[in-house]
Amino acid sequence: MKTGIYAGSFDPITLGHIDIIERASKMVDLLLVCVMFNPNKKSPLFKIEQRLDLIEKSLIHIDNVKVDKHSGLLVDYAKKNNATINIRGLRGTVDFDYEMQMAQVNRTLYKNMETIFIISNPKYSFISSSVVRELVMFNGKVDDFVPKTVLEALSNGFH
Ligand code: COA
Repeated sequence: MKTGIYAGSFDPITLGHIDIIERASKMVDLLLVCVMFNPNKKSPLFKIEQRLDLIEKSLIHIDNVKVDKHSGLLVDYAKKNNATINIRGLRGTVDFDYEMQMAQVNRTLYKNMETIFIISNPKYSFISSSVVRELVMFNGKVDDFVPKTVLEALSNGFH
């Protein structure tokens, strides 16, 4: 069984993430979508448990996805779950240097895991969670950037 990981902070999950997850889920038997703790990111919009709930609801149409959380190294999570494919989205050249470094560090730490890059749909290549967070902070419209479940949570004040 081929298990992949798609990890991130997902604060919040966006349509760009969902595009990558839909495409990655076709490449593996099981895709673990894992909310990771990123120590560089302060002032979250949604708490971890809320993010997990929003991700689960946004991915209800995909059968072979499991939503999970982990705090620690990605490679340790991968080893624990026998995952051998690390999926990353590439939105453009700005992502590339950072992603290459991460892929090389991860491969040095865990030889059984390969990082596979999926080029993002140009429709979503400018979206990031921090753009969404900033728009929310200043009451901007995020309808074109996030799934319905996130919009509902925002309008219900669940953050
Ligand atoms: N569509 C929309 N947005 C996307 C996207 C896509 N296809 N791909 C990435 N993004 C956004 C993310 O939401 C994130 O937004 P933000 O920074 O505005 O909040 C941003 O682009 C950067 O994405 P990413 O690099 O995936 O950051 P992240 O915080 O979401 O996830 C981890 C990074 C958690 C996967 C990474 O830090 C990690 O593996 N941590 C564990 C520790 C570890 O093992 N480190 C490696 C060894 S040093």
